[in-house]
Amino acid sequence: MKICIINGSPKASKSTSELLIEYLLTFIKGKNVVTYNVCRADLSKTQFSQIQNNDVLIFAFPLYIDSLNSQLLRFLIELERRGFSNNNITVYCLINNGFYEGRQNYIAADIMKNWCNAVGLTYGQTLGIGAGEMLTFIKDVPLGHGPNKSIGIALQKLSNNILSLNKGEDLFVSPNWPRFLWKIASSLCFWYPRAKENGLKRKRLKDKVN
Ligand SMILES: Cc1cc2nc3c(=O)[nH]c(=O)nc-3n(C[C@H](O)[C@H](O)[C@H](O)COP(=O)(O)O)c2cc1C
Repeated sequence: MKICIINGSPKASKSTSELLIEYLLTFIKGKNVVTYNVCRADLSKTQFSQIQNNDVLIFAFPLYIDSLNSQLLRFLIELERRGFSNNNITVYCLINNGFYEGRQNYIAADIMKNWCNAVGLTYGQTLGIGAGEMLTFIKDVPLGHGPNKSIGIALQKLSNNILSLNKGEDLFVSPNWPRFLWKIASSLCFWYPRAKENGLKRKRLKDKVN
């Protein structure tokens, strides 16, 4: 079975999508897998034809404004323009988002379903994971345990479907961690420092557009 994983995070490194791909690889060990990061560099003609010749395409990407980021969108449009001579491909998605609820990814999953229809590929399943920025902080916790309990179980289900080319209902999960604690911890330890790094004052985050 030939599997191609597309990392659709615009981040140069240390993205949650990258971590989720690492996790997924532990479940699909021994398979012929290639990974491309489509947001960092333009792909060559050969790379495009390699992508178009697989049994499985897996898209791992972050949710941006309830949708897909522009680089990933551009890549999907390019794939659609080039077309697929081999339509025997099943597509799976691993989407993560910043808000706590993994369910927020359902619109992006629908977009991917529509794209599969448009290009004539089979849509397999999406796993949407909330509190994405938390995952790198808890990466030393084994999957299936503690805050990674539901994520581990859901990744196992997705991998089983990938390996048997089965379709499944979309899955949406969040870390096993209280929502209110994540809200406080993520603001203080992640979002405020990130804003500061980018020259944005905390007060400005509360500005409203009139
Ligand atoms: C421009 C932008 C838009 C975003 N839009 C949303 C959104 O609509 N909903 C959400 O829950 N998270 C949103 N996020 C947060 C990302 O989905 C989140 O940080 C994710 O974990 C990043 O994944 P990555 O590390 O794989 O790139 C947004 C982030 C950025 C930079």
